[in-house]
Amino acid sequence: MQKYIITGGSRLSGELTLQGSKNSALPIMSAAMLGDGESVLKRCPALTDVYSASRILSYLGCKCTVADGTAIIDPAGSSGYEIPDDLMREMRSSIMFIGAILGRNGECTFSTPGGCELGPRPIDMHLAALRKMGADISDNGGRIHCRLNKRKAHGAKITLPFPSVGATENIILLAVCAEGETIVNNAAREPEICDLCSFLRKRGADIKGDGESTIVISGVDKLHGCEHTIMPDRIAGATYLSMTAAAGGEIILKNTCTAEMEPFISVLEQTGCRIYLAEDRIYLRSGARLRAIRDRIRTMPHPGFPTDSQAVLMAALVIAEGASVFEENLFDCRYRHTVALNKMGADIVVMGKVAVVRGVERLKGADIEATDLRGGAAMVVAALAAEGTTCLSGISHIDRGYEKFEEAVSTLGGKIRRV
Ligand code: EPZ
Repeated sequence: MQKYIITGGSRLSGELTLQGSKNSALPIMSAAMLGDGESVLKRCPALTDVYSASRILSYLGCKCTVADGTAIIDPAGSSGYEIPDDLMREMRSSIMFIGAILGRNGECTFSTPGGCELGPRPIDMHLAALRKMGADISDNGGRIHCRLNKRKAHGAKITLPFPSVGATENIILLAVCAEGETIVNNAAREPEICDLCSFLRKRGADIKGDGESTIVISGVDKLHGCEHTIMPDRIAGATYLSMTAAAGGEIILKNTCTAEMEPFISVLEQTGCRIYLAEDRIYLRSGARLRAIRDRIRTMPHPGFPTDSQAVLMAALVIAEGASVFEENLFDCRYRHTVALNKMGADIVVMGKVAVVRGVERLKGADIEATDLRGGAAMVVAALAAEGTTCLSGISHIDRGYEKFEEAVSTLGGKIRRV
């Protein structure tokens, strides 16, 4: 089990180019198995989740290579429709292959993705939508089999009870080559949905309204190959900004999707950091002690405050002057990182979906363990701002979503090494 050894107390300063988005690359890799033609994905991040997705594509019969920041996927001849248990367990977001496998092969077999570090992860909305589009679904003790009559889905009018990102993505993946028109009401509006739709339109899909609450997809007969550059990772961006805010110093973040990061930035700037924005870069300087955030920080679907940035912002606010209040509305179990932060001297009290963070003067390094991807990143943020040395285990969680993380932190002057 690899660990990070982090020595806190250094101010950070440097330039970073933001990685491609994990949460855009994964659904786009799934979408690349639809239709014909080779897809070339630039700025594809080197992440363990991306390699897991590549293994699933190869297992299903696609040609898939990921190297030097580029993924090349050719689905020609791919007829596999079963995702084996071990690959399903490797990555919960394997669920977003379902729409693409069904769309390509007319059937799909997979295991219900178990709960994850964030709590139970039901897929009822995914399955209800697939049924509406013609899928017969049976569950044999956790192994789910979906089959389309005549191997083709038909369009449907679907209203999601909640703007689920994954369910919206699976509907789009099945609808792009279905018979007729599919309307998705209460669709997720995350920027990664827009990036997926931009990729599919380049391949010949007919999709309108992505980024809004109603998306209309008209099925087409064919999709061809294309070249696409994955959008920047807005959550990794929030992580590096929070890190610099907490440790003190300055950062120039390049290749940013600044507009899409506004929900996070509009909160971060309330801490008193100086933030200068350009379309594709962000400059942040953090001098004096951060101020607490006066208003409650509620995580909400986009364009609300992103749940994936909750932990890293909290890690910066634990040493702010004053108290901040978080409300986590997306996941049942997304405060696990508070145990480690409190072990480092933070003062966080969790009551259900509310966490009250009372700023303390200083944190001290400790032996802690990452329990999930963004919680682990939050622990690095805290360790860099703490006095002394932190030993962080469980860093395989971090490898799922951050490309060359210790290199990036070292580039900023942070003292971190992997052992
Ligand atoms: C995506 O997960 C992201 N993952 C998550 O990022 C992100 O936190 C989440 O969207 C919300 O923005 C990827 O894109 C790979 P949801 P997803 O379906 O699609 C419930 C990270 O750190 N729900 O929008 O799984 C669900 O339990 C990860 O990069 C149902 O009840 O999120 C959750 O409470 C973590 N039934 C809420 O909806 C369903 O059928 C939001 O889930 C589907 C979802």
